Formats: sequence, C-alpha cells, structure tokens
Amino acid sequence: MALFARLTTIIQCLTFVFAFPTGKSLQSRATLDEWIASESPVALSNLLANIGSTGEKSYGAAAGLVLASPSKANPDYYYSWTRDSALVFKTIVDQFIQTGDTNLQLKINDYITAQAKLQTVSNPSGGLSDGSGLGEPKFLPNGNAFTGDWGRPQRDGPALRATALIAYGRWLLDNDYSSAASDIVWPIVRNDLEYVAQYWNQTSFDLWEEIKGSSFFTTISQYRALIEGSAFAGSVGQSCANCDSQAPQLLCFMQTYWNGKYIDSNTNVEDGRSGKDVNSILASRHAFDPNAGCDDATFQPCSPKALANHKVVTDSFRPIYGINNGIAQGSAVAVGRYPEDVFFNGNPWYLATLAAAEQLYSALYQFNKVGSIEITSTSLSFWQAIDSSAATGTFSSSSSTFKDLMSALKAYADGFVAIVQKYTPSTGALAEEFDKSTGAPVSAVDLTWSYASFLTMAAARDNALPASWGASSANQVPSVCSAASATGAYSASTNTDWPDFQCSTADSVSVTFNVLASTSVGQDIYVVGSVAALGSWDISKAVLLHSDMYTDNQPLWYGSTTIAAGTELQYKYLRKGSDGSVAWESDPNRSYTVPSTCWTSASLSDTWR
Ligand code: NOJ
Ligand code: NOJ
Repeated sequence: MALFARLTTIIQCLTFVFAFPTGKSLQSRATLDEWIASESPVALSNLLANIGSTGEKSYGAAAGLVLASPSKANPDYYYSWTRDSALVFKTIVDQFIQTGDTNLQLKINDYITAQAKLQTVSNPSGGLSDGSGLGEPKFLPNGNAFTGDWGRPQRDGPALRATALIAYGRWLLDNDYSSAASDIVWPIVRNDLEYVAQYWNQTSFDLWEEIKGSSFFTTISQYRALIEGSAFAGSVGQSCANCDSQAPQLLCFMQTYWNGKYIDSNTNVEDGRSGKDVNSILASRHAFDPNAGCDDATFQPCSPKALANHKVVTDSFRPIYGINNGIAQGSAVAVGRYPEDVFFNGNPWYLATLAAAEQLYSALYQFNKVGSIEITSTSLSFWQAIDSSAATGTFSSSSSTFKDLMSALKAYADGFVAIVQKYTPSTGALAEEFDKSTGAPVSAVDLTWSYASFLTMAAARDNALPASWGASSANQVPSVCSAASATGAYSASTNTDWPDFQCSTADSVSVTFNVLASTSVGQDIYVVGSVAALGSWDISKAVLLHSDMYTDNQPLWYGSTTIAAGTELQYKYLRKGSDGSVAWESDPNRSYTVPSTCWTSASLSDTWR
C-alpha cells in the first residue's frame, strides 16, 4: 500500500506539473484580490488541520500541539517546533481577536495548556530548574522530549511563545478575564521572559537550525518579548525586573547586526556566508508596531535600514533562481532563506516570499500614519529600484511624489504575493518551498508556518493590525553596549483551569475518522454508517479515506465528514479491493455520539478489527 500511495503522489505531482502551465489555468487566473480571498479560508483550514488533537492531519498529536507539517519523511516534520507553534498561534490569536471565532479560542486555550506542560519536560537542552530546557527546539507530537541529535538550543522559541501568549493575555485583560491572564498565562510567560533575560547573550542555533552564533531574528524576538513582557507583567500586577535590566542591552546589541549596507543576519559565527538572509525580513515584520514611526533602532518595516536590507536580501535571490530569470530590478522575485542555502538544493520558500510582501504592506501602513516618506541615503537605492525618479528628501502625504512612491510600493509588494499565487497549486496547498527552476512545490507538504505566513500577509495587506508591543516607548539605545545577563527564577505553571468562555454550541461538527488498517496495493478503506453523511449503510455511498499519511509503521487512513452535533450513530470501516470486493470489519457496529459542545471539530482514533 505504501508503494501505491507513493505512486499516486507521484502521479498527482506529474499532473500538477503538466497541468499548471496550460491555457486553462492561465485564462482563469484570478486577480490578486480574488486569489487572496479564495486562499484565505483554505489557508486557515489547512493550518488548523495540523493542530492536535482534532485537526484532520494531526493524528497522534496532543491537544494544542502544532505539527510543523504532516510530512513524515523527506523531510520528517512530524514534530512540534516551539518557534513554528508560537508564530502559528500568534497568527491564530490575532485572527481570533479580529473575528471572535470561538473555535480559534478553544485552540488557543489548548495551546497554552500544552505549553505549560511542555515547559516542564526535561529534554536534551536541559530542564526547567535553570530554564535551560526552554531552549529546546522541538518535541514529539505527544509532547514528549525528542532525544535525537539536533541543532540546540534555539533561543528564539521562548521569546516567540511569550509574544503569542501576551497577545492573548491582553485580550483576556480587556475582556474581564483578568484571573486567566494572571493565573494561567502569566506564569508561563514569566518563565520564558526569565529565560530570555538570562540567556540572550549566549550563542544559539539560528531559526534555520544550522549555525550556532548570534542571529538577528532571535535577538529582535527577544527584545520585543522583554518590552511587552514587562508591560504585561505590570498589567497583571507583577513586574519583570530582569526584562527591564536586560532590554536596553538587547536593543544595543540589535544595532550591531547592521553592517552599513544591510543586516548581517548571523554574527559571532564563522559561517562563510554573506549574512543576507530572509531572517532579517522576518525579524522586521515581527518587530512591526502600528504605533511606531519609521524607527531604525527597532528596524520598523518602513525604516530606512529595513528597506535597504529588503532590497539587498531580495536581490540576492535574483541571479540564483531560474524562475527569477528576466525579472527586472524593482519587480518582485521569488525569495528563499539565504542565497547559500543547499537544503533541498536551495529553493524559494513560500513564507520567505510572503514575508517580503508583508514587510512592505506594513511599511505602507506606517507611511500613511506618519504622513510622509523620508528617503535617506540609506534607503535611496531601495526607492530608486521601484521608482527611478526617487531622490532623497521628505515627501508629505499631500505631495504627488508621496502618492507615486506609495503606489509603486504597493505594486511592488503585490508582486511578491503574485509570485506566490503563480506557484501555488489550484488546491491552495502551501508546501515549504517551490522549485527554483520549475516552481513546483518542494519539501514538506502543508507547512503550517506557510499558511500562517499567508494569513499574516493578508491581514497586513488589509490593514488588520496587530496590537502595539511598545516599540515607540523604548527607543533609547545605550551609547555603550555591555554583555549582561540576569539569572532567572523558574517554576512550573500548574493552573490551566480556563474559565467558561462565551461560545455558541456548534450546530455541526467536522468529524475526522482515523483508522489504522494495513492494506495492500489496490485496496482502499472507507467508513460507512447509519447517517447520511456516512452513506446510510449504503456501501456505494461510503466515505473514501485518504492514505497520504500511510506508512508501514503507522498504516493510517483518515478522512472527515460533517455531521450534526449530538447525532448518535453507528459506523464501521470497510475495505474495497480493486476488483470490487468488499470486506467489512468484524461485528459489532461501532457507536459514536457527535459531541454537542463549542467545538466544530472532533476526531476518532480506531484500529481496524
Ligand atoms: C533540518 C532543518 O530543519 C533545516 O532548516 C536545515 O536546513 C536542514 N536540517 C539541514 O541542516
Ligand atoms: C526547517 C526550518 O528551517 C525551521 O525554521 C523550522 O522550524 C522547521 N523546518 C520546521 O518547520
């Protein structure tokens, strides 16, 4: 069966490669607005599919744990990374705050509950007593430690997690759930802040898990966490003295990555690289604060330094990817991690190309808010690439220059999304990478972080703003940097008793049927049962399950169908052969009652009998 499943995948891939450039898809190519509108719900549902325990593609993942991807081989991403999870949940929190979707809130609560436990899991980076275990990059889907070799520690994880939890903590405070903020969220955040304050000045593996040194993305994430962490502490009646003592030094250190022309993303390491890395663009988008101006000190998206860097980094991918051939300066290109990358032969990444767009959308917002564009000698080359008449100076929003620059910037930003649109298959599935020569999806399928990046890009394009993290209040860069550290105090957070939130009971529930059933080539597994959604016991209407996650060790067949909440039903799995033969599971029928709760998804884990 595994072979058959693989053949099917290969055939699907071939179909995709050949079908993509045909006239049909070109004729029907949606406008960018249309594509973003249609991709948004796909991105959200595919993202949720990778979150345990109810996500359709998260078999075996504990509640609230995010799989990086359902891919189990080449590459094996069937783990929960602290970084990916935090970035995904920051996205979910922002979506929840904007839409009020209580199903998202239930996921957030699960995530936070799971993180409280993960913080206590001893792992190869260490344990909780001195905080060292918090730097562990990834865990097994069930929340146990991963003990194999890996690039560890990765010190961005705790900072990013603090930011995600604080975003939700603020919502709790604003909505009269202050004890959940202080008793559940704060103790977890506190551990992460103590970790940042204690270890920020020690080397760390970078976000790509490859080199150990100082990484700009890590530093900026840490700085942001300490600033908003201190404010959040205050709002729950606590304080974070170590945040306050270390933050200025982090801000000082952040400045040292600027080499006069661009951000050298990796320092304190002999990596033989240029340092041009989308690390820095991701960092600038992470530092975006809607209340800040175009401050260089915090590398705001509209700051001269961050714009100059955007050009240098994106230009580094122009000559090395075939699909960027012939694209003129000032027009968007496919963007990868860093030009020297050899992972899967070095390709553009969806999340990198989307981040390049997002930085610019956030910059557009900031220029409008500031009411002018200041072009300095630092940012001049960025502006000249997209508008050849650009010159240094300050152009107020009433001027025609401002309007010209803004429309050139918007078109340039949209160009990056259009690249992603062009290389996204019609299903809307976002893998990790797309091939530098053909544009076909490469590496991990359904990368959760790719979907989150799409959603945050779309939010930025719509000016759906995240909350301020306090960037503008903290711009005093010390004149002399010093290597500092503050030893933290750590304790397990034990309260995960969430209050009852107002949410409406679901009318219908997407139920995922998972069954472990070994099969041989040509056989398929179906689920059939007593309700219409399960074919009303009619085998010709049984629901065919998917085998794309099938492995010899875990012969998983799975699929979802929507059923009214509260329905009591009976069901069975059956196996059909290519010759039309049908084999039923043994008696008795299985029974199930679809939950009638706030949850709109549920999942069953069965073994063929
Ligand atoms: C796995 C890491 O996740 C990836 O970022 C890296 O490029 C490869 N290992 C190769 O080191
Ligand atoms: C490899 C990436 O380099 C890393 O940033 C990420 O955390 C893992 N894959 C999981 O997505």
